[in-house]
Amino acid sequence: MGQMGTTGATTATAALYQRFVGPLLSQDEGADAEQLSQITLTALEQASLRRQWPLVQGALAGLAAELSRPDPRLEQSLFGCRFANPVGLAAGFDKNGVAAAIWHLFGFGFAELGTITWHAQPGNPRPRLFRLAAERAALNRMGFNNQGAQACRRLLERQRLPPPGQRPAVLGINLGKSKITPLEQAPDDYAASLELLAPLADYAVINVSSPNTPGLRELQDEALLRRLVERLRRLPGCPPLLVKIAPDLEDDAIDAIARLAYQEGLAGVIAVNTSLDRLGLGERRLAQTGRALAEEAGGLSGAPLRHRALEVLRRLRATAGPALPLIGVGGIDSAEVAWERISAGASLVQLYTGWIYGGPSLVPQILDGLASQLDRHGLGHIGEAVGSGLAWR
Ligand SMILES: Cc1cc2nc3c(=O)[nH]c(=O)nc-3n(C[C@H](O)[C@H](O)[C@H](O)COP(=O)(O)O)c2cc1C
Repeated sequence: MGQMGTTGATTATAALYQRFVGPLLSQDEGADAEQLSQITLTALEQASLRRQWPLVQGALAGLAAELSRPDPRLEQSLFGCRFANPVGLAAGFDKNGVAAAIWHLFGFGFAELGTITWHAQPGNPRPRLFRLAAERAALNRMGFNNQGAQACRRLLERQRLPPPGQRPAVLGINLGKSKITPLEQAPDDYAASLELLAPLADYAVINVSSPNTPGLRELQDEALLRRLVERLRRLPGCPPLLVKIAPDLEDDAIDAIARLAYQEGLAGVIAVNTSLDRLGLGERRLAQTGRALAEEAGGLSGAPLRHRALEVLRRLRATAGPALPLIGVGGIDSAEVAWERISAGASLVQLYTGWIYGGPSLVPQILDGLASQLDRHGLGHIGEAVGSGLAWR
């Protein structure tokens, strides 16, 4: 189980995860990956709704005591949001926002909900999420399965969240295009979702990088993206807007997005989404289908993405300069990898695949590791590490 068991973190949640979930994640076959996520999310949804009940409250307080690491040196204010720490949950795990009210209890400084589309949609046929256990990676072709913007709003309202700006964890809402909406009408589709969800979002993400919605990635084209951003920015009450990009873009396209972000006053860029490149794993067969990754549809995530995600981040930083906040995501599964991303210019990082394999203790491990790097480098605040180029010590 990679990270687990290596830090002496024999606390309750870490031990339970290691004991019961670890064996399920250590092989490709067996427990269905999507089903495991769903079971977890159902439990989290109930916990979020009933978090005032004494028993639930007690359990959640225990979780927070174990996993949270309040530390003023890790706090940052970026694009008008106050982040308690730089480690966030990446989009795609809590697609409908069912556990929005409790992500901070897992130690996260922020959580990105979604991707939400205007129309509810079932996504692609199953199986559509595959473990590559030996590589600490995953292949997914979920296809934006979600209950739609209206249901998302209801789910968030039901949880009685504090208003934006007053939450223990910043909440981003990641928006995508509905499958049935033609590409030319994408701006209206995104705008409808944003209009409805803006009052609940600390920030919003224009996701133009999922490989699993036909045509979506064409919206990374400079002219189309500019049209989209300009449409969304005009909406009343528009929250800070970020764009999430693919790892498979050419350097010219990355540069164009960095410039556009600056010109259009975007709050930041999130790099990266899952990859269509097989990252050296083209021959690797999926246990469930018997086919090689080169023949399978979907995006790759996890450890094999680390190198490319870092390259894209570096390129963005070089073109955009230090003023544009960047969020690094892709293959982050340890404090060292998180530090590497921050040192290369990410103000914030996000976890998905690494968190699944590493378990809940990964967040405090990263936060502890970042804090100790600050000490070792004689830095007083995480902001000083961003783009510093300082190596892990
Ligand atoms: C099962 C799965 C579903 C995902 N769904 C979304 C999504 O709906 N929207 C999105 O922007 N990214 C989505 N992602 C991409 C992640 O947010 C992240 O960008 C990517 O997995 C790389 O990070 P990682 O290597 O830490 O997993 C998904 C990833 C996985 C593994």
